[in-house]
Amino acid sequence: MANITLQKASALRGEIAVPGDKSISHRAIMFGALSEGITEVSHFLKGADCLSTIDCFRRLGITIEEKEELILVHGKGLHGLKAPDRMLDTGNSGTTTRLISGILAAQPFTTELTGDSSIQKRPMKRIMEPLSMMGADIVSIRDNGCAPLRICGKQLHGIDYISKVASAQVKSAILLAGLYADGITSVTEPAVSRNHSEIMLSCFGADIQSQGNTVSIHPEPVLHARKVIVPGDISSAAYFIAAALVTDGSEILLKNVGINPTRDGILRVAEAMGASITYLSRSDDGGEPVADLLVRSSALHGVTIEGEIIPTLIDELPVIAVMAAYAEGTTVIKDAAELKVKESNRIDVMVTNLLAMGCDIEGTEDGMIIRGGKPLHGSVIDSRADHRVAMSFAVAALAAEGETVIQGSECVDISYPEFFKDLKKLQK
Ligand code: S3P
Repeated sequence: MANITLQKASALRGEIAVPGDKSISHRAIMFGALSEGITEVSHFLKGADCLSTIDCFRRLGITIEEKEELILVHGKGLHGLKAPDRMLDTGNSGTTTRLISGILAAQPFTTELTGDSSIQKRPMKRIMEPLSMMGADIVSIRDNGCAPLRICGKQLHGIDYISKVASAQVKSAILLAGLYADGITSVTEPAVSRNHSEIMLSCFGADIQSQGNTVSIHPEPVLHARKVIVPGDISSAAYFIAAALVTDGSEILLKNVGINPTRDGILRVAEAMGASITYLSRSDDGGEPVADLLVRSSALHGVTIEGEIIPTLIDELPVIAVMAAYAEGTTVIKDAAELKVKESNRIDVMVTNLLAMGCDIEGTEDGMIIRGGKPLHGSVIDSRADHRVAMSFAVAALAAEGETVIQGSECVDISYPEFFKDLKKLQK
């Protein structure tokens, strides 16, 4: 296990382009595999999670070439996958595990899949239930509602599913299964989760409509290969946004960041906390809006974060907790019980480690209460192998007195292998 030691930092300055969006990178491989022709993916995120998706699709018979700047996915159409010769390994990736299950539920073969120790604890009933309603044969091999899973492909039926959770992984698993169903499939969520599947499937030629919190898909489209330019990942940009905000005298430019409104909650919350963020050169690629973001250090104040905004910043809540620790006044995070079933229990891990740094914070059933403004001091941080926790505490370390040691720092490879290098670049 690698440790990294960080000191209090002076101002961050300069510009960087964060790596490609993790959610969009996964989908480009998956949808490319199910399309006719060669899908060309640029700015693909070569993080461990997306490499797990590549590995799984190669085992399902798809040729995927990794060039310096491009990934080429040789699609075989909706019905071109073949049975893998061994259990699929989804690594640490919830997106790979849940989305691929929707596809595998409809294949004319049986697949087993599993992932690392974190994946084997994450809830899979949330996809097993709707997929079973569609006629899928999907079981948890240890009968604990988690991976390993055995999926025996079946003819599926369209359903109208009302989901209890706002989860793009659940929604996407059902929509992908819906590609193979014998009628229209629709999913209604309590709040709109990220809509990258809807945008990209539509670009590939699927017949898919969104209305309010409901998405519907027609079966058996012919999907056509596309060029996909993956925007910079706002979830990765979030660490630098927060770092620039909490370190005095900072001014950084983040190039080419995806600002899809189902993902931009971090920006809206940062602005509500008093952040200075300027959007420059806006553009749109394949339906995904992109901008350069100019971020300057700012005096932050506490806010309440709850309700429909939560799915739009769910992965950023750990670093938002760090921003709140450095903000004056109280920040309340509610309606975020999903944090407990991410790569780690992110309520528990954030509370434990921020307490160790001297923060006044308490965990609640569905969030955290952070009484900000107390100076923090360095500490030894157990990342619990959770990439977003390790990067959040790298940000906390920059404005804390003394030295912070982040244990298990190599987990940043999951979504941002060059994170510590890019952070250093901005400290010069
Ligand atoms: C993701 C959806 C989110 C997010 C995860 C990636 C996706 O999970 O936390 O990091 O790519 O669809 P849920 O939609 O299950 O909350």
